[in-house]
Amino acid sequence: QGDPRLKAISEAIRVVPHFPKPGIMFQDITTLLLDHKAFKDTVDIFVDRYRDMGISVVAGVEARGFMFGPSIALAIGAKFVPLRKPRKLPGEVISEAYVLEYGMDCLEMHVGAVQPGERTLVIDDLVATGGTLSAAIRLLERAGAQVVECACVVGLREVKGQHGLNGKPLYILVEPR
Ligand code: PRP
Repeated sequence: QGDPRLKAISEAIRVVPHFPKPGIMFQDITTLLLDHKAFKDTVDIFVDRYRDMGISVVAGVEARGFMFGPSIALAIGAKFVPLRKPRKLPGEVISEAYVLEYGMDCLEMHVGAVQPGERTLVIDDLVATGGTLSAAIRLLERAGAQVVECACVVGLREVKGQHGLNGKPLYILVEPR
């Protein structure tokens, strides 16, 4: 892609080798949040893409999807729905489990947060295996939502082919460094 903003966004993400364990090159978006221009450009690129797509729900994945999702939701006139880790939401929830490298985790959403047929964008900071996004899609679809696309700041483009993301498109700004 030729967008000159993407290079600065990529460079604003700090890479921390061997965090949280040996061999992992952690893509730290907290340094992107410190760079006002790069942070704003990130949100603006998503807003420009999604503003005229009839999206009424932006669903963010805990924890780092919460750092981008609400700004996008406000700008495109959508509501924000947090998809949370287990036992954090106080109301009635539906849950969807997913497999991690070691063990399982789960995402939860409040019953009634989305209405059947609502056009939904799923946002997270990063996609690796796609397991988390796939669980988010299953959760939203069980509630009757229509998932239009998943969007991440960082990711490998091949994940789409690997995991399928239940057939949903994946939009990524930059590749991991
Ligand atoms: C990271 C990242 C994504 C997920 C991607 O979250 O923010 O949510 O992993 O991995 P996947 O594509 O292989 O599923 P993490 O599990 O570290 O949770 P946290 O944001 O609560 O720390």
